[in-house]
Order: sequence, then structure tokens, then C-alpha cells
Amino acid sequence: MTFNRSIKIAPSILSADFANFGLECEAIEAQGCDWVHVDVMDGHFVPNITFGPATCAAIRPHIKGVMDVHLMIAPVDPYIEAFAQAGADVITAHLEAGPHIHRTLQAIRGAGAKAGLALNPGTGIEDVHYLLDMVDLICVMTVNPGFGGQKFIPSQVEKVRRLRAMIGDRPVHIEIDGGVTVETAPLVAAAGADVLVAGSAVFRGGSVSNPAPYGENIRAIRAAAEAAL
Ligand code: DX5
Ligand code: ZN
Repeated sequence: MTFNRSIKIAPSILSADFANFGLECEAIEAQGCDWVHVDVMDGHFVPNITFGPATCAAIRPHIKGVMDVHLMIAPVDPYIEAFAQAGADVITAHLEAGPHIHRTLQAIRGAGAKAGLALNPGTGIEDVHYLLDMVDLICVMTVNPGFGGQKFIPSQVEKVRRLRAMIGDRPVHIEIDGGVTVETAPLVAAAGADVLVAGSAVFRGGSVSNPAPYGENIRAIRAAAEAAL
């Protein structure tokens, strides 16, 4: 993974057909996505359950590019090695998932993956200051984590702007997750975000047998974001 700040679209397979994850990953890559976003939920840190390292390992051969694994689990540390072994390029842990986020980020990089730090909508950015050299990505949740198809929380745009200033020239991505659409993508792109996760807005209207709408949706979100730069 080489670092650049160009707009990157990362469809979330939470909105894909669970029975066809492999083919769905191939379809969104063929339709022009940049990263594949994989939402891991444990029914404890968030009120929903999705899948674990075994599913990540199963879909890895179907992803040529970046597998971006978003861990909505607590605790995190006991599972880092398993997700790294499964082929995750980026492993993102929530600041709210436990008291030892500094150690968690060290362990993620120690396992050979890029380290991501996610912030829930109610979490401030003060603590991030002490972690900036430990992370490769900061994920700003623009919905309360746990489900796709939720409404974007506009108050988070200011958080993105402040984070962008705090990051400066460091090679740290700002990822936006939740409620990204053609309407909201320009707001966060203008504020300094470069990785845009989109689930329902990408998978809407398409399927493995009819993937063309995936491409139309990806191109529309990218064009809207780039127009705001
Ligand atoms: C929510 C997940 C998101 C979600 C985004 O907890 O982390 O990645 O799938 O879905 P949309 O784009 O539909 O809000
Ligand atoms: Zn996510």
C-alpha cells in the first residue's frame, strides 16, 4: 500500500449478498472500487453480529486490492493475529474498545498490518494527538456503528476538518464510515477525508449477475467527492 491522498472508494460488504461474498468482492473491484471494507461485529461492542477471521480468510483470494478490516469488537488484542493471518491489509480498532489503545495499535503494526483508529460520533479527537505516529488511518464514524443504511451525522464534518489539521503532512488516511452518498461525500472530501466507505449507496440497485449499477454508484460518489476538492 503506497500512501496518497487521492479519493478512494471502499464499498462495505455489509450491504452485499452474504451468500456470495467472493463474487461480490470481485464485482466491486471490477466495477472500479479502490479498497474493500469488511465490517466485523461481535454483538457486544455493537448490537449486531457479522463474521470473523475465517470469513476474511475466505474472501481474501477474491480481493486483488486492499482488504480494509473494521473491527467493531471488544476486546481487540486477542484477535489481531488472526485477522492479520487472514490477509487484512488494514486493521482498524475503536478507541472506545478498551483502555489500552496504544498497545493495540502497536500490536496491529507488529502483526504486519496497517493500523487504523476508529472514533464513534460521540468521541472527541483530543486523545488522537498522542497516537498520531502509531496510526496509518483514522476512521471517523459518521453513524453510530452496527448497521448499514443509517443517516449521516453532519456534526462529524467539523471533526474531520480538525483531524486533517492535526495530521498535517503525516501519511495518515482519514476514512469516513457511515451514510456516505453523492450528497454527503463532497462535505467530507472538502474537509480533508480521502477514504470513503459506502455500503448501501454502492450496492443499491445491483447484484452479482447485474453489477453495472455498482460501477455507476462508485463513479458518482467519486465524482461528487473530487468535485469538492
Ligand atoms: C457500520 C459500518 C459501516 C456500514 C456503512 O457500523 O461500520 O461500514 O456498513 O454502510 P452505509 O454506507 O450503508 O451507511
Ligand atoms: Zn465499517
